[in-house]
Amino acid sequence: MRMRKKRHGSERLLALSALLYPNPTENAENPSQVFGNDRPVRLEVGCGKGDFIASLSEKEPDCNYIALERIADVAVVAVEKYARRRGLGDMAPNGGWLAPDGALYKDGAVWDIPLEMRGNVRFLVADANDFLVTLPDGALAGIIANFSDPWPGKGRGEIGRRLTSPVFLANYKRALARGGVFSFKTDNEELFDYTAQTLPENGFEITFLTRDLHASERAADNIMTEYERNFTEKGVKIKMLEAVPVII
Ligand SMILES: C[S@@+](CC[C@H](N)C(=O)[O-])C[C@H]1O[C@@H](n2cnc3c(N)ncnc32)[C@H](O)[C@@H]1O
Repeated sequence: MRMRKKRHGSERLLALSALLYPNPTENAENPSQVFGNDRPVRLEVGCGKGDFIASLSEKEPDCNYIALERIADVAVVAVEKYARRRGLGDMAPNGGWLAPDGALYKDGAVWDIPLEMRGNVRFLVADANDFLVTLPDGALAGIIANFSDPWPGKGRGEIGRRLTSPVFLANYKRALARGGVFSFKTDNEELFDYTAQTLPENGFEITFLTRDLHASERAADNIMTEYERNFTEKGVKIKMLEAVPVII
């Protein structure tokens, strides 16, 4: 995702840093502890500007969500969008974050948002593989990858960088709990075919597959992402699959 540099992007993230997932360390504790409850945790890889996770977290509040995005200037849009939707205030006209009680968080000031107001999403600016290796085995109830491919673009279609290449799939498999679902949507036919072939070769069983999501039985339940909306407007059919790790 290309994006113009955000003004004061890191300062803006700092104001709302209570909504960020704490810097993970090797062998971190179960991620649900971060949310102060023991609900299942699902991970969205490459959340972009965060429309999807803001909607899913409202629609399915009995889960916790980690929204991962490696570009900070993109993540800041997602964090602010989520905060607005939760009624946590808005950007102040002259910069900074204006909380509902009128307090202004600016110039590096951090709002220590009470836990009960933070809701069920935490954002993390990191690369997917770097984060996945920090998780304990079986820590995640689900992994979602929506249009989160580093493609097209120069050098970006390299197989190893695809979010469904064997290295990523090995990390997903280890991090998923028994019965945990990997869910994948894309506009890209070639990437979809590659993914449908690579999953079974790497210990996953495909449990759902459609090459036209919006005409499938899942259409009513589907939450559109930003990219999905753009591709759909252009008449591109959206492909989707779900897979679970095979337990031997
Ligand atoms: C094409 S955009 C899609 C954004 C959003 N999911 C949507 O459907 O509208 C892909 C996003 O995934 C992110 N991304 C790609 N590879 C990633 C990785 N290895 N780790 C974390 N984020 C990644 C990119 O920075 C970009 O914001």
